[in-house]
Amino acid sequence: MSDAKTPFLTDVKTLRERARQHLSRGAVTTTYVGDVNKTIDILQSVLATEIVCVLRYTMHWISAAGISSDSVKEEFAQHAKEEQEHMTAVAERINQLGGKPNFNPEGLASRSASQYVEVENLIDMIKENLVAERIAIDHYRELIRYFGDNDPATRVMLEEILTVEEEHANDMHDLLVSHEGKPMLDR
Ligand SMILES: [Fe+2]
Ligand SMILES: [Fe+2]
Repeated sequence: MSDAKTPFLTDVKTLRERARQHLSRGAVTTTYVGDVNKTIDILQSVLATEIVCVLRYTMHWISAAGISSDSVKEEFAQHAKEEQEHMTAVAERINQLGGKPNFNPEGLASRSASQYVEVENLIDMIKENLVAERIAIDHYRELIRYFGDNDPATRVMLEEILTVEEEHANDMHDLLVSHEGKPMLDR
């Protein structure tokens, strides 16, 4: 019962023919809805955000010191590893879309949504990480809505990353509560 001009499902013959056209575009096929260059630009900013997260957690992991910091250090190290996985996934997606992942340290901080803040004590480190996670969560949630059905692969990747960022935020919040005895940020 589909409209002849805009069929809901493409027949196999057309699918096969279409796939043979524009091979140089790789994963970007004719059904890609939206502006692929804009997607790449957005993902460059996500990439920068993830790189900054890797750097911040690594710095905190190495420099965390003080009473009962071992479990916190371990948590920072684990998060640094997971941020690196996000970084790789986003870079790979940019590459799939025909872009060149921007790892240039120049301008990194301004391309990133989250900030790189140097702090001295453990509590402030946890707090800064929680802030950064909350920025990433808000940003990615918006992007997931933005991509919707236009680019399901990018959306699903961001959904997977978002789930981990929410766990990270929760971990940082729990650490704050256990070190401070109360939540530091208003609910
Ligand atoms: Fe991340
Ligand atoms: Fe995170």
